[in-house]
Amino acid sequence: MSDIRPLVAGNWKMNGLRAALDEARAVAVAVAAKQPAADVMICPPATLVASMVGAVGEAIAVGGQDCHANETGAHTGDISAEMLADAGAGAVIVGHSERRADHGELSRDVAAKAAAAHRAGLLAIICVGETAGERAAGLTLQVVERQLAGSLPEGVTAANTVIAYEPVWAIGTGLTPTTEDVGQVHTALRGAMVAKLDDGGGVRLLYGGSVKPGNAAELMGIDNVDGALVGGASLTAKDFLGIIDAFPS
Ligand code: PGA
Repeated sequence: MSDIRPLVAGNWKMNGLRAALDEARAVAVAVAAKQPAADVMICPPATLVASMVGAVGEAIAVGGQDCHANETGAHTGDISAEMLADAGAGAVIVGHSERRADHGELSRDVAAKAAAAHRAGLLAIICVGETAGERAAGLTLQVVERQLAGSLPEGVTAANTVIAYEPVWAIGTGLTPTTEDVGQVHTALRGAMVAKLDDGGGVRLLYGGSVKPGNAAELMGIDNVDGALVGGASLTAKDFLGIIDAFPS
């Protein structure tokens, strides 16, 4: 067992009106009671960040789902890392495959956003992952390593950065890679972080993509998997807590 404190982060994506704060409250109450052996975070849409911080108190952390690289400026519709921090967020996801695909974000953009997160004092959760076609072509490790190298800004440490491996074809599909395949990618990610950083052995490496209560314990038991980034199953307290249960106190 490593001494890394795992992280289970929920990514609500573009889901959640104010009524959904009840689910987050229920997670916070249960986490305070269960004291799981993992940190717990929810990344709601930006509209809910401030109210969620108020709703969940200290029990769980709150993060954003994206940020602009700049602190302020003429960028209609964008949100800076400083704004997320000001709203009470402690983290931000950057480089999610949906942003890379929907908004044409390149790894160098992701690195600039991660640097912005650090500038604002936020934990950067940097996402990487191959498409189905890239996996079929045997390019998984090459793609993931290239994305990782391109998405890491200067100044990365185990304290300010988390890496999430999310195979694009596993997101929202109910499909997951085999434990061997996840282990192979996470071993490669660990090797890359150890080669780059003095404290690379302590960087949390999350797996994401169709994590559910029924598969969480198996996925979370893989070497070098230090938690989960959870989409659909983070939307209800019941399912999210079922995943958090993979880390009993
Ligand atoms: P999913 O999404 O759990 O719904 O597959 C994961 C993610 O995109 O972070």
